[in-house]
Amino acid sequence: MEVVIVPDSAAGGELIAEAMAGLLRQKPDALLGVATGSTPLPVYEALAAKVRAGEADTSRARVCQLDEYVGLPAGHPESYRSVVLREVVEPLGLSESAFLGPDGTAEDVAAACLAYDRALAEAGGVDLQLLGIGTDGHIGFNEPCSSLASRTRIKTLTEQTRVDNARFFDGDIGQVPHHVITQGIGTILEARHLVLLATGEAKADAVALAVEGPLSALVPASALQLHPHATVVVDEAAASSLKLADYFRATYAAKPSWQGI
Ligand code: F6R
Repeated sequence: MEVVIVPDSAAGGELIAEAMAGLLRQKPDALLGVATGSTPLPVYEALAAKVRAGEADTSRARVCQLDEYVGLPAGHPESYRSVVLREVVEPLGLSESAFLGPDGTAEDVAAACLAYDRALAEAGGVDLQLLGIGTDGHIGFNEPCSSLASRTRIKTLTEQTRVDNARFFDGDIGQVPHHVITQGIGTILEARHLVLLATGEAKADAVALAVEGPLSALVPASALQLHPHATVVVDEAAASSLKLADYFRATYAAKPSWQGI
């Protein structure tokens, strides 16, 4: 995988937004897989700025969710559907019909999971999937020991992830759902380009394990090692536990700038 070390989250956002804009120039109806949480916000801000400046055309772009809480009422402001509508669909001027997501309110959750995997395949598959990483190494909500071949399914969040996400629920862990629907690791690996963004020191150990550790279900993000086109974009703080940081810097510096990520 390619590791790109950037000075800060704004630079990471700009780099990834430019990759998305370039993809949309080649494939105007590209399906962009979007993550939620704090980390990807600079990407969406940078892409929206490019749209306003006429440097990116999202008029035919499509987006799809990575995961969703189970059991939040429809329209809850912290449901990932609401977050993606607010942070991505509206700023990019997309219509709701260009947006795919799993139904976290479904009575039959297993059927909703199957339906979502089918919908992604029928949409032609994800062109670029943006990922964050949990402090426990999760991608999507594939918590440690998730099958590396898993499909979209229901998962139970670890206590660590519920603590980490309590900040979106007034700091009250009691409001954080226990269950989620998440694209499986096998589902995620089907995207044509995986781009993981990690910022801040809290992610440094998870990033090092994912990039330099062995492939292991214990560190779900290590599954990126299996993908032929995986890019890991980290700021200096998130790169601080990487043994090969200097090698990654030198490799990226030597790359022709037109090549992108
Ligand atoms: C969110 C998701 C999670 C987050 C991860 C990091 O859709 O799939 O894997 O990317 O928990 O969250 P932040 O960016 O808030 O630290």
